[in-house]
Amino acid sequence: MFQSNLLAGEVVLITGGGTGLGRAMAERMGALGAKVGVVGRREDPLRETVEAIASAGGTAAWARCDVRDPQSVAAATDAIEAALGPVTALVNNAAGNFLACAEDLSANAFDAVVKIVLHGTFHCTSDLGRRWIARGSKGQVLSIVTTYAWTGSAFVLPSACAKAGVLVMTRSLAVEWATYGIRCNAIAPGPFPTEGAFSRLMPADAHDEALRQVPLGRFGEPAELANLASYLLSPMNAWMTGECVTLDGGEVLKAGQEFSRMTDYPRDELRAGLAMLRPPKSSKT
Ligand code: COA
Repeated sequence: MFQSNLLAGEVVLITGGGTGLGRAMAERMGALGAKVGVVGRREDPLRETVEAIASAGGTAAWARCDVRDPQSVAAATDAIEAALGPVTALVNNAAGNFLACAEDLSANAFDAVVKIVLHGTFHCTSDLGRRWIARGSKGQVLSIVTTYAWTGSAFVLPSACAKAGVLVMTRSLAVEWATYGIRCNAIAPGPFPTEGAFSRLMPADAHDEALRQVPLGRFGEPAELANLASYLLSPMNAWMTGECVTLDGGEVLKAGQEFSRMTDYPRDELRAGLAMLRPPKSSKT
């Protein structure tokens, strides 16, 4: 579907680009002609991602970065720009999360997630935004949020608060920075079986129940998210801003629908049950 030069001319900086969905996006965008800068805390996965992109014929660079620290963000962006040229698109992908009861969270635990997800996204977005505005160049921000960014979610309170903030940041800046030609969009992924997310959020014995929550009957494949992200950053999508695209196999809709659990039954069984509920036709004598 995509031409191999779909993202030619783009220099994409991806936070948390060494692992999981970040790496999937980095490799896909590299294969579609973007120059890709991956930044994160750990050197080894970043280096491996850059090597994978290069061995597939793409161009990439890495820099160590702690998104919680604005100076670290600026230094990493300088390093990526020195290697690849001016960044044209930012993917806010770095995140932190864990399951915990809200009443057990220390102030430090709340900060640990919010500083990565909300503050980190702000630091990266404001750093790149200022550069684009100073240069008079267009730019794009794509932030990875979650389907509970607008509903909230039990047992991931810091993440829910932070992701809601990122979604609102996306919508606010879409309007405020449109005058500079800067567009801001988001993707809300449902369950994708990456090591980082599933090791923290999905106990092995919860897989079957989690699958039942997804109408399309399976978890997402990282390549599917990478394809959507590539389309969103491509010139084919130049008029979208302030939008959040859900990619979850229908999970969030099923959770919110009154009768959606009826889809858990085999359709013939369900039909038989529904027939029993139907009142008998009144007999005309
Ligand atoms: N339940 C409750 N509290 C927890 C916790 C858990 N599972 N994990 C960490 N905390 C608390 C710690 O106890 C600590 O609080 P305290 O000082 O009051 O004891 C605080 O959080 C910070 O912990 P620390 O391990 O020092 O944080 P960190 O900044 O090194 O790590 C995390 C941040 C916790 C978010 C870590 O999981 C991380 O870096 N994750 C990145 C990758 C990731 O989460 N990916 C999944 C995205 S979906």
